[in-house]
Amino acid sequence: SPRSTPVFDSNISPLQVFVQAKKNINDIFVDIEAYLKETVHFVDEKNIQAEILSLEDKDTIKEHVKKVGGIREVLKRDHMKVVFFGRTSNGKSTVINAMLRDKILPSGIGHTTSCFLQVEGSETPNESYLILENSTERRSVQSVSQLAHALCKEKLTESSLVRVFWPKEKCPLLRDDVVFVDSPGIDVSPNLDEWIDKYCLDADVFVLVSNAESTLMLTEKNFFHKVSNQISKPNIFILNNRWDASASEIDFVDQVRAQHMERASDFLVSELKVVAKEQVGERIFFTSAKEVLQARLQEQKGLPLSSGALAEGFQIRYFEFQDFERKFEECISKSAVQTKFQQHSHRGKSIAGETKTIMEKIFVASQNLRSQKTMLRKELWDKIDFTDKQLQLLTHEMKDKIRQMVEDVECKVSKALSE
Ligand code: GTP
Ligand code: MG
Repeated sequence: SPRSTPVFDSNISPLQVFVQAKKNINDIFVDIEAYLKETVHFVDEKNIQAEILSLEDKDTIKEHVKKVGGIREVLKRDHMKVVFFGRTSNGKSTVINAMLRDKILPSGIGHTTSCFLQVEGSETPNESYLILENSTERRSVQSVSQLAHALCKEKLTESSLVRVFWPKEKCPLLRDDVVFVDSPGIDVSPNLDEWIDKYCLDADVFVLVSNAESTLMLTEKNFFHKVSNQISKPNIFILNNRWDASASEIDFVDQVRAQHMERASDFLVSELKVVAKEQVGERIFFTSAKEVLQARLQEQKGLPLSSGALAEGFQIRYFEFQDFERKFEECISKSAVQTKFQQHSHRGKSIAGETKTIMEKIFVASQNLRSQKTMLRKELWDKIDFTDKQLQLLTHEMKDKIRQMVEDVECKVSKALSE
């Protein structure tokens, strides 16, 4: 029995749309799996003959069960993935920490992040740990300094990946299945192609963290040219970070903003052609990740958001960061639902459709066999009937003949006796 059509609450947050869609599609695959298992059971139990169900179709049904199991496994791991790029010290790790409302990733002056760090929600409550590439060993980490120390010890190559698992209850974004990938500065690596192959192909959103104190750099632009050669229309956000520096440039702030805006818009609209001119305003933001992180940490301690030494214009920058987060959530959720679940739903539909066709074939073949057998039975019956009638006739004839013969004999005997 099919489930009722899933209903989406229009008031739920964008990220919840993904979470809800994942739950719904998983429920649908639970149904498909049950339907397939029932089919296999039916086929095995009835021991259906080859003239009704070919061996090939029988194997197809069994293959489908395996495929659906595989899809359910992939579904469990499906998440929304955002990757951060930019030159060293532009504030990539700080942006991630600000979004996660916690100091999780090491940040600091100089070249800090030395390999790819993927932050994702930990399934075990209150447990934070890391797993190195090509390993399954969980190494417990409680703090940023421990994490930095653990990474330092390992002497990892730039393009290797360390997965950092952080308690879901601490960060709403991790709870909603968003996975963050931090990268080393793109100016320090010659392995950009390898980075793209390893980390960009399944990303839903890219965030280019640029430095508002300087300008968009050629290395940053070239990297994204390479990315958009590989992926059609990647979703790219540009954060002009360190925008708090503008507080000391009151006289020129509007001009600087306009200049950055123009360069960044040109890059996304005319060069990469990844976003329409009318929508570009929703992809470029001026932020101060450091301030947002500081404010959020203060807030968690119960202090007012704007306590501490903050530069002028903090509130506006804070709102702009929140605006970025909202647009980001809408974009990543929409992209992930489309790219991940559309594929699954097509495959689910074709599996269910093919199985239905096989079941219909079984039905038609068994109907045909039944009518063939009925015909055969009728023919046989007619033959028996005919033979029976023949026998009856024969018996009648024989009876008459015998009677005749007896009468003859009797006649002859009585005649002989009288003679
Ligand atoms: P790498 O990992 O080395 O590539 O650098 P990154 O891009 O991750 O930069 P990170 O987050 O480590 O920040 C570098 C330094 O800049 C740190 O000291 C941050 O505190 C500081 N920083 C980050 N964002 C801002 C910001 O918006 N304003 C100011 N003033 N400083 C910031
Ligand atoms: Mg970093």
